[in-house]
Amino acid sequence: MKQFKEQLTERVAAVEALLKQYLPKEEGLQKTICEACNYSMLAGGKRIRPLFMQLTYEMFGGQGSEIGPFMAAIEMIHTSSLVHDDLPCMDNDEYRRGRKTTWVKYGYDMAVLTGDALMIYAFEVASKAFADTACPERVGRAIQILAQKTGIYGMIGGQVVDVEMTGSPMTREQLDFVYQLKTGALLEASMMIGAVLAGAEDAAVADMEQIAGKIGLAFQIRDDILDVTSTTEQLGKPVLSDEKNQKTTYVTYEGMTQSEADVKRLSEEAIAGVSSYEGAHQFLVELIRMLITREK
Ligand code: IPE
Ligand code: IPE
Ligand code: MG
Ligand code: MG
Ligand code: MG
Repeated sequence: MKQFKEQLTERVAAVEALLKQYLPKEEGLQKTICEACNYSMLAGGKRIRPLFMQLTYEMFGGQGSEIGPFMAAIEMIHTSSLVHDDLPCMDNDEYRRGRKTTWVKYGYDMAVLTGDALMIYAFEVASKAFADTACPERVGRAIQILAQKTGIYGMIGGQVVDVEMTGSPMTREQLDFVYQLKTGALLEASMMIGAVLAGAEDAAVADMEQIAGKIGLAFQIRDDILDVTSTTEQLGKPVLSDEKNQKTTYVTYEGMTQSEADVKRLSEEAIAGVSSYEGAHQFLVELIRMLITREK
């Protein structure tokens, strides 16, 4: 079996190629928005959401190509959330994925439009899966999940409370709500859509939602840890952003030691969850494990 790192490099390269296939051409009078979308999308993220989607699809025996548009779509939605998250009215950050943020490069106005454009273009792309499937009802259900986990009851809902509570202490309940939604929801969508498109039963889809929720929470706690312990060069985004913005984070709430222990515990629970499925591959398990100690 190929080494984990080698497989990861290959899979990420395949996601990059897929994204390029769906990104807008830089032409027309509205060319600026196409350039800004491509600038933010091709800046080299880790691509973990499309990877989790693909791995879950494979775990449930999926073999078709309708997963492709959804893999591109989830990365577009995630990137749109980053473009908006960095705006001066939100976290006011100037670096992302090792480059100037979209608002610094293209201006505040264009960055607002870029976030909007990517978020809706994601659905234009996802809907292309209808042309590529024998099961249109699964594609319809996947689009519904994608919308729900992005919007008021998903990522955006979490960002709302994150922004509203900036500078004020949060209760543990509020903190859990923010983390489950702002970060958990798009990971939940990734694994649920992988399962739905592969034809998994409802109970298994619900199980994937639970498991992905744990991965998402662990992922955000690790993000908070790195915001304190890492460097801007290593992360490709500013460190101490949370302190600058006086955010209550998991680390400020629970402390570093407990935060590290919880990343590990939640990840091990997620690993146990996926391992109970016959089709789970070792690569998926190793990916979850790698995220516990990720350095970027
Ligand atoms: C950053 O997400 C925002 C969070 C939800 C913590 P990622 O760490 O996945 O960012 P990229 O896509 O690799 O840049
Ligand atoms: C981001 O949380 C969650 C999103 C939905 C973008 P953060 O604000 O901590 O993400 P980074 O650290 O800027 O990537
Ligand atoms: Mg933020
Ligand atoms: Mg931020
Ligand atoms: Mg952060």
